[in-house]
Amino acid sequence: MNFQFSLDSIFPEDLMIIGRDLTPKVVDGSLNSSTPSEYYYKHFCRLDPSSKMALGEVLDRMGAASARAQGLSQVITTMEKLRTSENHIVYIITRKHPDRSVDGADICVGFLKVGRKRLFILDSSGGQNEVMPVSVLDFYVHESLQRHGYGRQLFDAMLQTERVEPVHLAIDRPSDKLTSFLAKHYGLRQPCPQMNNFVVYPGFFSDREEDE
Ligand code: ACO
Repeated sequence: MNFQFSLDSIFPEDLMIIGRDLTPKVVDGSLNSSTPSEYYYKHFCRLDPSSKMALGEVLDRMGAASARAQGLSQVITTMEKLRTSENHIVYIITRKHPDRSVDGADICVGFLKVGRKRLFILDSSGGQNEVMPVSVLDFYVHESLQRHGYGRQLFDAMLQTERVEPVHLAIDRPSDKLTSFLAKHYGLRQPCPQMNNFVVYPGFFSDREEDE
C-alpha cells in the first residue's frame, strides 16, 4: 500500500514494532540486523506531530484493508484502538524505494497485531481453563504481496520477540488463509474452536511456561 509521504522517517527499519505508546521500535534481530540490535531496541524514534499523523494514516488504512480482506464489518486495528489497548503490539513491514527523491513510492507491506487476552479454553477432558495466552488478533499482507514470505517474516519476528511457541498461541477467528498459513509454516493442524471464537491447537496446554 502506497502513501503520499515517505515512510522512512516513521519506520527507519523495514520491520518494526509499535505498542500503545505509538513509538515505532526496532525488533530485536530484525531484517536489517547488521547494526547492534540492543542499541536500536532502546533507541526510540520519537515522532513529531506530523509524523504521528502519518503513522495514524498508515495504521488506519492498513487496518481497514485487513477488515475488507477478511469481510469484517468492523475494523480491528486503528491507531486509536492501539493507543487505548492494554497490551497490544503491532509488527509492521515496510519497503522503502531506493531512490529517496521519488515521493509516495514507499510501500507498507503488512502487519500482525498480537496481545495477551484473558480467555477460557477447553482442555481435552472438557474442563474450562482460565489462561492469558499471546493471541493473534489481526494479520494482513497487502494483496499484491501475499505468498511472498512476508507473513512468515512477521510471524517469526513475533514468535521470537514474544518468546512463544506457535502451539501456545490463541488465534482470534482465523481465516482460511491463516489456517493454511499456520499448517504450512508451523505444522498446526486440527484446530480446536472455542466458544469465544478463538481457536487453539492440540498441544496448547503442554509445556506452557508463562502467565496462566
Ligand atoms: N489462499 C490460501 N492460502 C494462502 C493464501 C491464499 N490466497 N495466501 C497465503 N496463504 C497461506 C498458504 O499456506 C501459503 O502457502 P502456499 O503459497 O504454499 O499455499 C502461505 O500462506 C504463504 O505464506 P506467506 O507468504 O508467508 O504468507 P502471506 O505473506 O501471504 O501472509 C496472510 C499470510 C497474512 C494470511 C495473508 O495471506 C493475508 O493477508 N490474507 C488476507 C487477510 C487474512 O486472512 N488475515 C488473517 C485473518 S485472521 C486473524 O488475523 C486472526
